[in-house]
Amino acid sequence: MSKQLYINISKLYTMQGGVRVKDQLNDPQLLTDAWMLVENGIILEIGNGGYPLVDEVIDLNNQIVVPGFIDAHTHLVHAGNRVHEYAKKIAGVSYLDILKQGGGILSTVKATRAATIETLTTKAHQTLQEMLRCGVTTMEAKSGYGLDQATEIKQLKVIKTLNKSQPVELFATYMPAHALPPEFTNTNDYIQWLIDEAIAQPINQGLANTMDCFLEQGVFSYEDCDRLLTAAKKLGYDIKLHIDEIYSLGGVDLAVKLKAVSVEHCMVTTSDDAHKLAQHKIPCVLLPATSFNLGKPYADATMMKQAGVIMALASDYNPGSSPCSDFIWVMRIASRGLRLLPCEVLSMVTINAAHVLQQDHIGVLAPGKQADFVVINAESFDQVIAILDANPITSVYKKGIKVC
Ligand code: NIG
Ligand code: FE
Repeated sequence: MSKQLYINISKLYTMQGGVRVKDQLNDPQLLTDAWMLVENGIILEIGNGGYPLVDEVIDLNNQIVVPGFIDAHTHLVHAGNRVHEYAKKIAGVSYLDILKQGGGILSTVKATRAATIETLTTKAHQTLQEMLRCGVTTMEAKSGYGLDQATEIKQLKVIKTLNKSQPVELFATYMPAHALPPEFTNTNDYIQWLIDEAIAQPINQGLANTMDCFLEQGVFSYEDCDRLLTAAKKLGYDIKLHIDEIYSLGGVDLAVKLKAVSVEHCMVTTSDDAHKLAQHKIPCVLLPATSFNLGKPYADATMMKQAGVIMALASDYNPGSSPCSDFIWVMRIASRGLRLLPCEVLSMVTINAAHVLQQDHIGVLAPGKQADFVVINAESFDQVIAILDANPITSVYKKGIKVC
């Protein structure tokens, strides 16, 4: 493969300098009037002023370039939708009450169990194409709409297939404790069944090496999550936790105890807990599109930032609490809802999100890093967030190849 030289980049948001906390979040390490040299999908050099001579020169006509966005929390693979629950939501029926009535996650479980692998793959593929048009080049994808062995494995296999058949790079997370399946009458028995019968297969078959669990009132308790995730850790899984979405139930303490790689949601996390996250360097993935869609308060990102928490931002794309595959709007909701500046948002979907996925070769545009980048017809990234225009992205590159 020859070398490609991208010239006339009005602003190159390099994101060099590592994971960002506090005031560093707002520093994108900008290079103006820049160029970028790529070979075999890897960045060889970046600079401004005089550039090397190569055969293939691509003129980006004074557009801006940012790293490909990393969506570090999604429930990508599922069947159906929950439009039939929308009126209930607007009438004020709570998320947990809809679940208690057998709807919510359980309604998607029913649809996903009934769907063929082809139907699931086609729907997820469509979502990935929409996300790619919004600049997402890497995504985490959770199972959790099967809650039985066959369907959880079916979801994880869809993720594995899609990882090979389309450009968005996927990282699978196994999430069998997402809700109590209808076959069980109590969480205790379900957790025991998972430990005894289910959780070894995904990691042994190379389908997932991370496990997530929904710690929430009326869903899974601290003790349930502790038992399951302790067993999972022994098998070699990395641990993530959905915590503090509606009620704060000690999730941060559990994350510290289990040395979790991240905690996610944190809409009602206390200041004490934020300090613990900062102290133990456990990143927090904020999901403001969920607050928007559930009509709930946003996480206190200002408090977490002051506490020094490593913060990332993700879509939480799913058919219930965040049916939103428009990542540009996820970032705009984040800026307004979490009261973050555009470059803070950018840090949270690039360098910091890469850290959550433990992938330090992405989320940054620097020599030796993967050439995943987005070309945007805007004067600055601030404009992308502050002006609510249609999607201003003109092209997307994954491993140096134009994919959109
Ligand atoms: O992260 N909170 C639990 N799981 C998802 C929602 C899944 C659903 O409602 O289908 C979330 O918000
Ligand atoms: Fe989620």
